[in-house]
Amino acid sequence: MINLGLMSRASLPWWKQTTVYQIYPRSFADDNGDGIGDLAGVIARLDYLKWLGIETIWISPFFKSPQADFGYAISDHFEVAPEYGSLEDCRRLIDAVHAHGMKIVLDMVLNHTSNQHPWFLESKQSRHSPRRDFYIWRDGRKPHGAAPPNNWKSMLGGSGWHYDPATEQWYWASFLPFQPDLNYRNPQVKQAMLDMVRHWLRQGADGLRLDIFNAIHKDAGFADNPFSFRPIPSEHNPDGFFQRAVNTQNHPDTLAFARELRAVVDEFQHPPRFLVGEVFGPTSVLREYCGPLGEGLNLVFLFKSLSAKFTAPGFRDLMQEFETAFPEPLHPTYVFGNHDRPRSIERLGNDRARARLLAAFQLTVRGVPFVYYGDELGLPHHEGMALHSALDPVAARYRFLPKFLLPTLRKRGILVNRDECRSPMPWHGGAHAGFAPPGAPSPWLPLHPQSAILHVEGQRQDPDSLLACYRRMLLLRRASPALSGGSLQLCEPLGDPR
Ligand code: NOJ
Repeated sequence: MINLGLMSRASLPWWKQTTVYQIYPRSFADDNGDGIGDLAGVIARLDYLKWLGIETIWISPFFKSPQADFGYAISDHFEVAPEYGSLEDCRRLIDAVHAHGMKIVLDMVLNHTSNQHPWFLESKQSRHSPRRDFYIWRDGRKPHGAAPPNNWKSMLGGSGWHYDPATEQWYWASFLPFQPDLNYRNPQVKQAMLDMVRHWLRQGADGLRLDIFNAIHKDAGFADNPFSFRPIPSEHNPDGFFQRAVNTQNHPDTLAFARELRAVVDEFQHPPRFLVGEVFGPTSVLREYCGPLGEGLNLVFLFKSLSAKFTAPGFRDLMQEFETAFPEPLHPTYVFGNHDRPRSIERLGNDRARARLLAAFQLTVRGVPFVYYGDELGLPHHEGMALHSALDPVAARYRFLPKFLLPTLRKRGILVNRDECRSPMPWHGGAHAGFAPPGAPSPWLPLHPQSAILHVEGQRQDPDSLLACYRRMLLLRRASPALSGGSLQLCEPLGDPR
């Protein structure tokens, strides 16, 4: 691989050259000592991220929520959940990030709300509620809840329709039942959500990450999804549970909405803002979200990297595919973990030498790298957490899954119990590994047993640590215009070690 410095830093927008670090706020740093990470904790750790050489942070949702999916089911998009702090803390966070010369990406869950959102509570009240049409309600195929409106499956399997006996209709939820999908065919909904987006851009968000954006629009005629032989969906094929997801995911109207949203984001310049979409499908479809000239979403997560073979040819194939699909003015992303996925070091056989290689690759290839908190420490998976006692609602849904299937699924990048990749960040060797102040109750999830040896303080003092390697690579990337803003030309492999 050669990364050529054919373009100067100035010729590419900042968001194409940046490095992003994902913070799962619940697990990052607890400032007020309640065992749950919070915004004040993030503020207190910005010096660390600056020292590390990170340029942008993406913070998973901290808005008001019953926390049934830890922030991904919002009940008020304009308020901060009390366990994470206040609106004042949020303002302080945005200002502090900027004062550190960094940028901040907020997480927008546009597809659905919590079932405790006032809109849904009102919508549910009666068929004639003025907000009924804010969500997707349909009559069943048979009366009295005997059969849902059609065969559509949720992203997690099983029907995505949920019956409400009081109004004798079904509502649609692409993910979990307590996350009803908003109805974007209602112009009032679209307007309200676009205004919410504007609000956070006005507050100073430099970018927005879009949760399951590929589910926004479904078929307007509610046609059944056709049959497919595929039992399990994957990163690059949303078909699964024995149906093709053609009427529920990656709908052409969602692609059009991507362009509409981009126009809203482009209302805000100085500095320019960007959108990064969580979308699933073949690389060719993901590319369509960006538009042929880059007029749609600025970036999309390319999750194929999560299941790519950790071999030289595996990486070469990946780069080749991304480079072919995302040539300038499009730009690829490189993701090796997040709050839903197996920890990256797990797939490297917990081999720290290979983790260095992965860091070197991710931080030098053309594309925006997304580093998940703790990956710079080589924080492993927290294995052996029982499904039946998991806090993660996805794990609760699959609590009867036979245990022997879990490692196979994990190898395919699928994590059934997401508690396993959300361990509290270990900062030092003292009480609660420095995640929470001494005297605080136990952290919301148990610390990883290796926290005592992998913590930040220890690795900061060791020039040979994985953390030191990440820092060197990040500094190198910043210092070299070829690495942050260059183009990339792949050489023919010398021999094929496949
Ligand atoms: C994708 C998010 O990454 C995940 O954590 C969440 O549970 C679902 N979307 C539903 O919002």
